Amino acid sequence: TAPILRRLADLRALTHEWRQQRDVIGVVPTMGALHQGHLSLAEAAKADCDRVIVTIFVNPKQFNNPEDLTNYPRTEQEDAGKLAPYNIDAIYVPDPDEIYPEGFATTVSVSGLTDVMEGEFRPGHFDGVATVVAKLFLQTQADRAYFGEKDYQQLMIVRRMARDLDIPIEVIGCPTVRESSGLAMSSRNQRLSEKGLVIAAVKHRVMRALVQALEDGEEFDVVAPQAQADLLAAGFSEVEYLQLRCAETLKLLPITDRPARLFAAALVEGVRLIDNLPVSPA
Ligand code: PAJ
Repeated sequence: TAPILRRLADLRALTHEWRQQRDVIGVVPTMGALHQGHLSLAEAAKADCDRVIVTIFVNPKQFNNPEDLTNYPRTEQEDAGKLAPYNIDAIYVPDPDEIYPEGFATTVSVSGLTDVMEGEFRPGHFDGVATVVAKLFLQTQADRAYFGEKDYQQLMIVRRMARDLDIPIEVIGCPTVRESSGLAMSSRNQRLSEKGLVIAAVKHRVMRALVQALEDGEEFDVVAPQAQADLLAAGFSEVEYLQLRCAETLKLLPITDRPARLFAAALVEGVRLIDNLPVSPA
């Protein structure tokens, strides 16, 4: 199995050697509690790169809710076991002071893309993400980074950040991995009861039907209220947002006249579930 590194100096010793060999290095940033979604990123990275580093760091700066941070599952040994079949080259589990040393005072903040959706409902969240991801990019000196489309807004923000700061890394988006019910895999799904899981799975069906209508040329405002009602009828306690946005700029769209994305965030049993699907123009 891959070595677990906790100190930046040890990681640097490895990557120094790899860079001298001209190896292409891939990085997969995670917060652990690995599931098939994370593992698909490790697999994609290994298929593309000579060396792959999976990072595991539960980043306190991106949790806007302290309870969510305390409750976040920490399963390092299991995670290492799950990664074993993927032949990755290192697992970087930085000691907290390698990321946020005493006196740490810098925040990376991306404007615009962070104002909407998750940015609106989770204040400060994306500053925390952009800051830690910038550090992980610089610490690993990877050539390619793999992110899930499950967190599409995060993917776009991280890509913008790397471009804006001239971090020489290619940010690659990978498709969302789903349960057979259609539910997007997430470490948060563990907090749902059996009944909650059934309700959660309705979201994908409702979103798919809405995508179909939008691809048939319907206006969003005409067809979205029914989808919203269907989600509440299925048992979601709240729909925080259900929106059609440009896949590139994340600006709201009234109709699908360019590559778009349907985004949703909704609550069931107190668990916040997000998902998104591509919508193609006719
Ligand atoms: P985490 O939620 O652990 O997710 C790590 C990566 O796995 C992200 O790129 C996320 O989009 C991807 N992922 C999660 N569920 C997925 C699924 N069902 N299918 C495909 N990919 C999936 O996202 C974070 O951690 C953090 O914000 C991080 C980027 C590590 C910064 O702390």
